[in-house]
Amino acid sequence: MIEVRDVTHRFDHRPRATAVLADVSVTVSERRVGVVGANGSGKSTFARLINGLVVPSQGEVTVDGLSTSRHGREIRQRVGFCFTDPDAQIIMPTVREDVAYSLQTSGLSSKDAARRVDGILDRFGLTVLADHPSHLLSGGQKQLLALAAVLVRDPDIVVMDEPTTLLDLRNTRMIGEVIAGLPHQVVLVTHHLELLTNFDRVLVFDEGRLVRDDAPEAALRHYIELST
Ligand SMILES: Nc1ncnc2c1ncn2[C@@H]1O[C@H](COP(=O)(O)OP(=O)(O)O)[C@@H](O)[C@H]1O
Ligand SMILES: [Mg+2]
Repeated sequence: MIEVRDVTHRFDHRPRATAVLADVSVTVSERRVGVVGANGSGKSTFARLINGLVVPSQGEVTVDGLSTSRHGREIRQRVGFCFTDPDAQIIMPTVREDVAYSLQTSGLSSKDAARRVDGILDRFGLTVLADHPSHLLSGGQKQLLALAAVLVRDPDIVVMDEPTTLLDLRNTRMIGEVIAGLPHQVVLVTHHLELLTNFDRVLVFDEGRLVRDDAPEAALRHYIELST
């Protein structure tokens, strides 16, 4: 369970600096939660709060009762994070090495780690590309690899910040299907609203405030009205 309590966040700590998030309180236990809002509305900051990449200047964020400010390490084990640009996440020269790199500090034996890597590659249809140079993958394949490298660490929650924004329609659908099939709790920030139709809940941000928290249809209608 993700609990965001009375969070106001300023990147600039001067008292009169504008709050990027203001008075946000929300408890999230549903399996599929969407986050929408205009550019600059605070979506990425909200997403980053959940795995402690951003620690709020006021208020508290907990995941399964663990505070992101005090238990950063445990939180990052539980909460995987996918960025918009997979190139920001892909580090190693080949697909297999990149996924394996995620397990470097896991404490698993090399045999168990290799088994885990093979399992994930197989699940994502990446086995044939295991020795392929990571930087030569297509955009869709890179995003799959980035997601595989997050999931191999076996998180409970996956937070994705606009994972399809750089992809064409076909790859957006492909990643959408992969997300739909994940057993994990997913928090998905997106402008591809069609990905959220079957979600349990959608949060709408506007100028740093959570302005609507509803079922997808009602929340997305509200967001579209805000944008017109
Ligand atoms: N690291 C940062 N330092 C200073 N300002 C930031 C930083 N990250 C985001 N901001 C500002 O916070 C506001 C909200 O940004 P963000 O959460 O990225 O919104 P969104 O993802 O909805 O576009 C923007 O005005 C942005 O310029
Ligand atoms: Mg963003």
